[in-house]
Amino acid sequence: MRNNTKIPVENSSAAEVSMLLDILLVLHLQVLVIASSSSAEEDESSERDAQRSKGSSHQHHWGYHDQDAWLSAFEHCSGKAQSPVNIDTHKVFYEPNLPPIKLEGYDLAGSPALTLINNGHTLQLSLPSSMRIMRGFDHVYVAAQLHFHWGTTEVPGSEHTIDHVHFPAEIHVVHYNSRYANLAEAAGKADGLAVLGGFIGIGLRDNDNYEKILSALTDISIEESDTEIPGFNVRHLLPDSLDRFYRYSGSLTTPPCFQTVSWTLFNDSIRVSRRQLAALEDTLKTEHNKLLSKNFRAPQLLHGRKVLASFHTGSTARIASEAPPSETQDSNIMESNGHILAIIFGVLFAVTLLVFSVYTYGQRKKYSKFKKDSKQNVIYKPAAVEKDIDQTSVTVS
Ligand SMILES: *[C@@H]1O[C@H](CO)[C@@H](O)[C@H](O)[C@H]1NC(C)=O
Ligand SMILES: [Zn+2]
Repeated sequence: MRNNTKIPVENSSAAEVSMLLDILLVLHLQVLVIASSSSAEEDESSERDAQRSKGSSHQHHWGYHDQDAWLSAFEHCSGKAQSPVNIDTHKVFYEPNLPPIKLEGYDLAGSPALTLINNGHTLQLSLPSSMRIMRGFDHVYVAAQLHFHWGTTEVPGSEHTIDHVHFPAEIHVVHYNSRYANLAEAAGKADGLAVLGGFIGIGLRDNDNYEKILSALTDISIEESDTEIPGFNVRHLLPDSLDRFYRYSGSLTTPPCFQTVSWTLFNDSIRVSRRQLAALEDTLKTEHNKLLSKNFRAPQLLHGRKVLASFHTGSTARIASEAPPSETQDSNIMESNGHILAIIFGVLFAVTLLVFSVYTYGQRKKYSKFKKDSKQNVIYKPAAVEKDIDQTSVTVS
């Protein structure tokens, strides 16, 4: 017993370390179990989706007056990644790595005439496939059309809201992924669509660029009518700065509400005069010769989706990769839990590595103490291990 006075101390510390390693192992396993069960849930829900979509898929008439009716007629409209949404500027995640948007071919001055349509739901301008988003996404996106959402003189009609406030109107420039043949084919694909959205407010002067469209409104006041307008620089319909924007994953804001849109909403707004806005609000007619107005969908729940911002939105802005989602009541397990699990894995791995390295280092030190005189122990491995530990903690933090 006396001989061993020192050994029990060492043994107990070794036992502590091995217990700690056991606990960490159990934690790893638990995380694995959670991860696999949540992916099982994901499989189930996508199966359910597939089954439902086999049911009702024929076109229905729809209108903005009864948006609840969309839910039963179009299965995607009740999904958990719908658009538009409210953008809470205090809850968006600052993401400095969002690539800037780079447009090409937007200047259509001198190009063939463009078709402007009143389709009964909106005012829409057809766009040539030479217009593209070259950078900003994993693929090139090709322009197909742009259109507007608006209200009345009394009711502002943007679809997205900023801190629950509507702008008078909103422009959407719809693009499809160049992997697909056309808009129709891309619309149902997960990476199919990219829409650029701009908020339209009231300014003191007429906006000459918007006038190129608005001056033709009286020609297409009847539903399902169209006209031709000369090509112009479509870039000028968007805000001056494209650098500051929000990004989130959402849907078409009209039936069939496919959840295939990567949304980009610019922080910089566009201004038109009160007269110009009134022309948009008061000219076009929809079915039964009723005024085409208030063609905006109500904001939808985020269900755990993150809204990223390419810019600092204020003191509460958070880095996207650090902060957890704030809406804990949401059940969008696939997306938000994926991120959390990745972080937990990373931290557990780092801690395990750290404990193991410290333990190994301790063992080596002890070992070298016993063999103090042996030259074989003048090796640099412990230092190398220390270096590894430093590098690991840098990566994690
Ligand atoms: C632009 O960002 C600022 C700063 O967060 C915010 O106060 C403002 O409401 C934003 N406007 C739009 C249209 O996003
Ligand atoms: Zn739209």
